[in-house]
Amino acid sequence: MKPATEVRRCRTAILISGSGSNLQAFIKQVADGRLPLDIALVVSNRSDAYGLLRAAAASIPTLVISHRDFASRDAFDMALAAELDAAAIELIILAGFMRILSAAFVQHFAGRIMNVHPALLPLYPGLDTHARALDAGDRQHGSTVHFVTEELDGGPRIIAGRIAVRREDTVASLKSRVQAVEHQIYPQAAAWYAEQRLSYRNGEALLDGQLLNEPVVRDFD
Ligand code: GAR
Repeated sequence: MKPATEVRRCRTAILISGSGSNLQAFIKQVADGRLPLDIALVVSNRSDAYGLLRAAAASIPTLVISHRDFASRDAFDMALAAELDAAAIELIILAGFMRILSAAFVQHFAGRIMNVHPALLPLYPGLDTHARALDAGDRQHGSTVHFVTEELDGGPRIIAGRIAVRREDTVASLKSRVQAVEHQIYPQAAAWYAEQRLSYRNGEALLDGQLLNEPVVRDFD
């Protein structure tokens, strides 16, 4: 018999291209009972992604769809969408998935895709965010979780984690400190979504019924 307090778990796919440290944070929080997700599938566009091993170690089904096997971005995205639909996925978590998604894909899953970006958006969309923050002499840096829209790294922001940049910081140290922040803020955003506190409507994010004009901001050190 199911316990009366059992919560419905949001059926989730996590998409990766590399190490999967964010994936690992999700796996741990789910295992600890802090995050009501059913991680039903991990998809990578690279067969050598270390995150695939992390998923397998947690007995999560994995799938590799190599973009190199498709003639166009649209063809790859259609194959990916078909797999996600076949697995009845409700929420898509981009966790270091280094592919730009087509408009058709984003529209198909509108309001159900989240991304984590290693910068305090709207600063530094795109690549090399840590080097750009250092070059600019920024005093603060961090990471942002947002809903995915057709605009690259431009969808409505949900939560940002800030750190103070230290004089001795390098690209490597910033990357490591920012990822530690991501491992906290990204599962938090997903938990809000799974608990139906967070939603997406007409290009905007709502938390507890309030429009998020600015993301929730958490400071870390
Ligand atoms: C994360 O730091 C994430 O912010 C970044 O890739 C890393 C993946 O790490 N994403 C992007 O740059 C997307 N534009 P992980 O594989 O260890 O989770």
